[in-house]
Amino acid sequence: MKQIKSNSSQDYVRINKFIASNTKLSRRKVDEYILQGRVTINNITISDTGFKINPERDKIRVDGELIKQSKKKVYILLNKPQKTISSVSDDKGRVTVVDLIKIKEKIFPVGRLDYDTSGALILTNDGEFANKIMHPSFKIPKTYELKLSKPLEEKHKDYLTRGILLEGKKTAPSKIEFLSKDDKRKIRITIIEGRNRQVKKMFEKFGYKIYRLHRSKIGTISLGNLNSGEWRYLTTQEVSKIESLVSTKK
Ligand code: URA
Repeated sequence: MKQIKSNSSQDYVRINKFIASNTKLSRRKVDEYILQGRVTINNITISDTGFKINPERDKIRVDGELIKQSKKKVYILLNKPQKTISSVSDDKGRVTVVDLIKIKEKIFPVGRLDYDTSGALILTNDGEFANKIMHPSFKIPKTYELKLSKPLEEKHKDYLTRGILLEGKKTAPSKIEFLSKDDKRKIRITIIEGRNRQVKKMFEKFGYKIYRLHRSKIGTISLGNLNSGEWRYLTTQEVSKIESLVSTKK
């Protein structure tokens, strides 16, 4: 394997940052790829994860595929309808969340909501941002509203609030509120983790089924008056706020 040495010009960007910002790979993953000899600069394999490159001039490839610099970073909030897939494509031909947003940038969802779950979903073309906010250590609160198959008992509310054992691991404390005085099936829950089907599994553990699951908020970002299937760009303030939430929790 041919290798070249790092330079250190201030004007250049680190190769791991460049690749992570322009793909779905996290910086840690990029570092692994570099150490595995899967990354080239101008057809020369590098082994230095801190190598600096000139994005205007250098040709960066991962597994032979040229990494193009995204011109513009976009951050979108979608009110995901039910019966849509949280991915870029679907081998069964079902409608994906990306199909609903007709823009030229290649975006992807940050995390996922189940096929039958609706609500707030962020999409972006900024891999670094996505990996930052999805990382389990960053504990961004997510709020869901749901309807249960039967009224929630106080003792179960208490257990779920304090944390329960789910697949061998205790859930972090959550916040649970009743949405209506008269109907204890209607619940709002805020959790800081994002395990697979977590909300459903938490209630299923005590014999409740969820009839309707809707995410109303991610961090400080609310759906507001976005109707199902509608989307909007996040404001610069919203993006920086969510990034600052992440960096202060490190
Ligand atoms: N928890 C679930 O069970 N499903 C979702 O889609 C999101 C959170």
